[in-house]
Amino acid sequence: MTKQTISVQLSQTKKQKPDPNRLEFGRVFTDHMFVMDYSAENGWHDPRIVPYQPIEMDPAAMVYHYGQSVFEGLKAYVSDDGKVLLFRPEKNVERLNKSNDRLCIPRVDPDTVLDGLKQLLQIEKEWIPAAEGTSLYIRPFIISTEPYLGVAPSKTYKLLIILSPVGSYYKEGIQPVKIAVESEFVRAVTGGTGNAKTAGNYAASLKAQEVAESKGFSQVLWLDGVEKKYIEEVGSMNIFFKIDGEIVTPALNGSILEGITRNSVLYLLKQWGLPVTEKKISVDELIQAHKDGLLEEAFGTGTAAVISPVGELIWKDESLVINGGETGEIAKKLYDTITGIQKGALPDPFGWTVEVDTVTQSC
Ligand code: COI
Repeated sequence: MTKQTISVQLSQTKKQKPDPNRLEFGRVFTDHMFVMDYSAENGWHDPRIVPYQPIEMDPAAMVYHYGQSVFEGLKAYVSDDGKVLLFRPEKNVERLNKSNDRLCIPRVDPDTVLDGLKQLLQIEKEWIPAAEGTSLYIRPFIISTEPYLGVAPSKTYKLLIILSPVGSYYKEGIQPVKIAVESEFVRAVTGGTGNAKTAGNYAASLKAQEVAESKGFSQVLWLDGVEKKYIEEVGSMNIFFKIDGEIVTPALNGSILEGITRNSVLYLLKQWGLPVTEKKISVDELIQAHKDGLLEEAFGTGTAAVISPVGELIWKDESLVINGGETGEIAKKLYDTITGIQKGALPDPFGWTVEVDTVTQSC
């Protein structure tokens, strides 16, 4: 695939920017967006930056009926010296294409998408909030647009990238959350779409989330869809535990999302010389570890929250308070290190950050 030239149409009006100290997650959107279309005849074509606007679609568009869609999430930061930084964006495009494969959506050219994103950020630089704990959340997504009610892969698609200045994902921020172990509903099964970032997985998670929230929990801990015995994810994040000095996370098995933060956490822990293992972890062994006083920490990892400590787990009628309900040492160190690298406040020995050139605008 060859990189394509991106056309730019600037907005005539500018929206008022939100108060950076009162940002929520994903409620406000910037002035422009990136769009690209796919048709069987032309492949992915017409990459363009246009004013942020509603998209007009036929009511029969296949995404409305059969949910053939994929998405990504990443963030842009502005460093203290004014650099615009992305965190491992090539990993998101790589995962987007893996999700595309699973959902029968044609692959995108990574260079065109990354170029489109960088050009969009050049235009929207002023929207990147600088306050502690804030960033510009980037949401690339693809939807099937063919008006057809037969169950088949669509012949046309639209890729969009929208941007949203955000604060912390959970109202608790980096404070520990209370999680219910989910024993009725499942999020995904092996052979299903659990390892693809597709809308249906999130729709399938809502019922459990709603029930958990009504009982005062922030999220649920998902178990495997076959035996309901092995731990998979927490809410929309990957999960890590520290048990008797060893850090463990569920091994990827086809139904667990291959998180980019998960991957970065594994890398950092190994760099720090800490014992870390990817393996099957049963809820029974977790409860036993807690009874034995060996469950030292639990935390979720994801782009939106980065690191989210778990202070309490509820399983049936049992409550497992972890680390006295406080943020653990490892979770805190990981949060500070990852956000420090992301914001350019700490050195980046791994070459994870990508600077967006905001001096020479190509539009
Ligand atoms: C993330 O943790 O980045 C997620 O996937 C959450 C997102 C769906 C808002």
